Amino acid sequence: MSRRGQEADTRAGVTLGEDEEQGEGAAPAPARPAPVRPGPTLRSRFPRRLRVLAALAALAGCAALGIDAFLVEPGWIEVVRSIEFVPSLRASAPDLLLVHVSDTHIRDLGPRERRAIRIVNAAQPDLIVITGDIVHGESDPLAVEAFLGSLRARYGKFLVWGNHDHYRKTVEGWAPGAVSRAGFVLLNNANRRVDTPAGRIDIAGIDDPVTGHDNLKAAMVGVSRRDFCILLSHSPEIVRSIGNWDIDMVLAGHTHGGQVRLPWLGAIVVPFGTRPYVEGWYDAPGDVRVHVNQGLGWSYLPVRFLCRPRLDLITLRGGLPAGTRPRASIVGRS
Ligand SMILES: [Fe+2]
Repeated sequence: MSRRGQEADTRAGVTLGEDEEQGEGAAPAPARPAPVRPGPTLRSRFPRRLRVLAALAALAGCAALGIDAFLVEPGWIEVVRSIEFVPSLRASAPDLLLVHVSDTHIRDLGPRERRAIRIVNAAQPDLIVITGDIVHGESDPLAVEAFLGSLRARYGKFLVWGNHDHYRKTVEGWAPGAVSRAGFVLLNNANRRVDTPAGRIDIAGIDDPVTGHDNLKAAMVGVSRRDFCILLSHSPEIVRSIGNWDIDMVLAGHTHGGQVRLPWLGAIVVPFGTRPYVEGWYDAPGDVRVHVNQGLGWSYLPVRFLCRPRLDLITLRGGLPAGTRPRASIVGRS
């Protein structure tokens, strides 16, 4: 190449002269990309000791949650006290204390059952109602009878069947006899009138609606419109079917309160058809008060999380307070 040509190529930024020096036909060397520096990784940002500590903390947290859910909460009974004003009961009479229990799912007479007996009897209730699922799988009949028979109430103890009572055909076997010998009145689509110093109370009970054994019409035969009427049902779904029946209060269970609840989200899984009646007090159409007990036992998995076994102590007070009926009637938890 002539000197003039070399100068022209150099001005254009091309060093053809070097190529020529490597020999004719040699491929041009590829341009080297600028080295890419890797960004900071978890390993480089946190020292090994810190990462080990974080892993141990996470493991300890999981273990604590597991211990709480499987070992602590299933046996840690919560007692919730509430007051309910009943216009048809005499205001001048002493209060009536009603204990509402459901879903005992008794397998044997363990620490939880013994603790529940002590709490209930110490409260000296006037009435005890159990809203179904007394047994669970291969329950010990003697344990069930001993549990039910140990509970004491001044004016009576009442009970309805739940779906688990039907699953193993317990209701067709030993259960009715055990319930009767334990002093409970089984309300199988039937009702009983209870006379108290505060007035008459009609307690009606339907057989389990989950398995389709309920008959509300039969349960309400002879119930007086003048009396305070409590309907016992295993599932709260019956609330949608009570129509114009003269029912003042529905007591139910079945939901277990979800059994596992998450912060802010509440119960994740509840039986079909029971929402919004998951646990506690509700106002239903027709001025019906609904109360759902979140159960004493467990089903399917021996777990409870943010949802302790519960005993509800409900004070029935005659008349109304000054003003209107209070909406929030829970007065204590322990
Ligand atoms: Fe249950």
